Amino acid sequence: MATKVEEPKFFYELIRILDNAYTGDKVSISREVESIALKFEKKGLHERAGKLRSKAERLKSRSGQGFTQLQQSTEKLGFELFDPAESLNKARNFIPTSVNKIKIAELVSVVKKREVFWEAEIPIPNKTLMFGPPGTGKTVSAHYIANILDLPLILVRLDTLISSSLGGTAGNLRKAFDAANKQPCVLFLDEFDAIATNRSQLRGDGAESEMKRVVNSLLQNLDALDDEVMLFAATNLDSEIDPAVWRRFHNRMDFQLPNEEEMILYLDRNLEDNLLINDVLDLLMGRSFSDTEMILNKAKTKCILRSIEMNREIILESINENLMQKMEVCY
Ligand SMILES: Nc1ncnc2c1ncn2[C@@H]1O[C@H](COP(=O)(O)OP(=O)(O)OP(=O)(O)O)[C@@H](O)[C@H]1O
Ligand SMILES: [Mg+2]
Repeated sequence: MATKVEEPKFFYELIRILDNAYTGDKVSISREVESIALKFEKKGLHERAGKLRSKAERLKSRSGQGFTQLQQSTEKLGFELFDPAESLNKARNFIPTSVNKIKIAELVSVVKKREVFWEAEIPIPNKTLMFGPPGTGKTVSAHYIANILDLPLILVRLDTLISSSLGGTAGNLRKAFDAANKQPCVLFLDEFDAIATNRSQLRGDGAESEMKRVVNSLLQNLDALDDEVMLFAATNLDSEIDPAVWRRFHNRMDFQLPNEEEMILYLDRNLEDNLLINDVLDLLMGRSFSDTEMILNKAKTKCILRSIEMNREIILESINENLMQKMEVCY
């Protein structure tokens, strides 16, 4: 007697999904996925059902013009949006430190292996805190990663979400997370300390309890973040971050002023005459990449205007001008 072979499940659904994929009918594909989700639900596998439903929902919402829709929603909310090509432009000259290079490679492989994480039911480590002084490459790193992952990048400055109306800040925060959760993307939260402040350091009147509410709302949004959103939160002030917020993050990236090797690499790429590097290295060490970029651009402008070759004196002159400019900003 022939034994009955137990057939793997969802054969017909798979055929219909493939047929619809062939014609690009995302609405029908998501309908099929929803029906599979229902079967998981009936077996009590609620988490898997939920995951399938959210994928189906997302596919449906992308059936229009995905990026254009995202553009419209982020523009309305005042967030910046970059497609992967724009991010590449921003990160073209990016030089990661050796430690961050490894961390970036890990983050990229996490995304590439996300199905393995789902299978093992291990949370995807998709939240990274970035610390470091101004101009050391936090924003540019997020662009670099978004380009490698071929994902849009939504940039939100948390200080711009602060509202004077009661509950306004929490509402704005929610809108930022909602916009990101609609599709796989990189969400970059800049000036993170503006909201993630340590609750124990808060003093004062009603502002204190409002800020506590805001931190709580941040925690809820972090917990509910879709695992296909890569979140980066950047700050200059690590001591100010609330410990409960800290715990929500899986990864930490530190940014520092460039060391000698990194500065030489930067100059090698950005100075036409490589022989000048040794001549000017001592002038530029101890400065951020951002300051160095400003100084070199100033020096290059002077060379064009005066029709001369780049030299140590021009760079020195540009450093002094840069310093004067900074002092004017301070006063
Ligand atoms: N690691 C780097 N490699 C190459 N260029 C860099 C690097 N870091 C910074 N720069 C240059 O400095 C500029 C400013 O960098 P970026 O905005 O990423 O700094 P940041 O750390 O985000 O600063 P802030 O804390 O002020 O937001 C970039 O546009 C880039 O040109
Ligand atoms: Mg920045």
